Amino acid sequence: MRKKIVAGNWKMNLSLAEGKTLIEDVVSRLPLLAEHQQVIFCPPFIHLGNMASILDDGADQRVSLGAQNCHPHPSGAYTGEISIPMLKEVGVNYVIVGHSERRQYFNESNEFLKLKVDALIASDVQVIFCCGESLDIREANTQNEFVAKQLQESLFHLTPDQLKNNVIIAYEPIWAIGTGVTASTEQAQEMHAYIRNLLSSQYSNDVAQSISILYGGSCNPTNAVELFSCEDVDGGLIGGAALKAETFLPIIFAMD
Ligand code: PGA
Repeated sequence: MRKKIVAGNWKMNLSLAEGKTLIEDVVSRLPLLAEHQQVIFCPPFIHLGNMASILDDGADQRVSLGAQNCHPHPSGAYTGEISIPMLKEVGVNYVIVGHSERRQYFNESNEFLKLKVDALIASDVQVIFCCGESLDIREANTQNEFVAKQLQESLFHLTPDQLKNNVIIAYEPIWAIGTGVTASTEQAQEMHAYIRNLLSSQYSNDVAQSISILYGGSCNPTNAVELFSCEDVDGGLIGGAALKAETFLPIIFAMD
């Protein structure tokens, strides 16, 4: 059975105190997660160490810590950057790569993201690889080609085992991120099935069936059940609704 995952991307939000309260609140009200279910908190870098010590107290493998970014080099003169060994040292097991905000505001190219993917896999850290099209591309109906290129240029050089063991894909249409406009279940399922077919033709059906594909973009307690019930949607990467226990918990409960 594929892993079902709900990951909360806090972006540049929440103070240290707010973050602690949120994690404590969510963890204390979590149901007993099944073997195939995973909850991931992705706070800003500066909170990671503190949040790790809260999660350590619970010591539940099904609740993990993720970072929102990393630098591909292990150390060196990269002012303001954070390396993968540093992230591992504080207990990070997952890293979001290629979020549309990183692509858009920090000019991260498919080629640069490939370097991050390789460095994370070499360090045995799980990659949450984001892909997704802008509204212009959706309106021109070229979203499939666009997403295929993102995957081809950053992921498809990996071996089947690397992909299977270390990569989660998150489809996040840019027009749905933070806008309150969610992709319809049909649009989400259609793209997720397209991505799974790509994986199948590029690799094998076995690889395609084992990779979790998350949906992201205005996912909330009202639409999560319907979105997560789609055959090829294996959970969500949640932004705004991950900032409050009242909205994050029902999304976690929507995981089957
Ligand atoms: P949103 O963000 O849930 O606030 O739309 C999702 C994301 O950017 O990961």
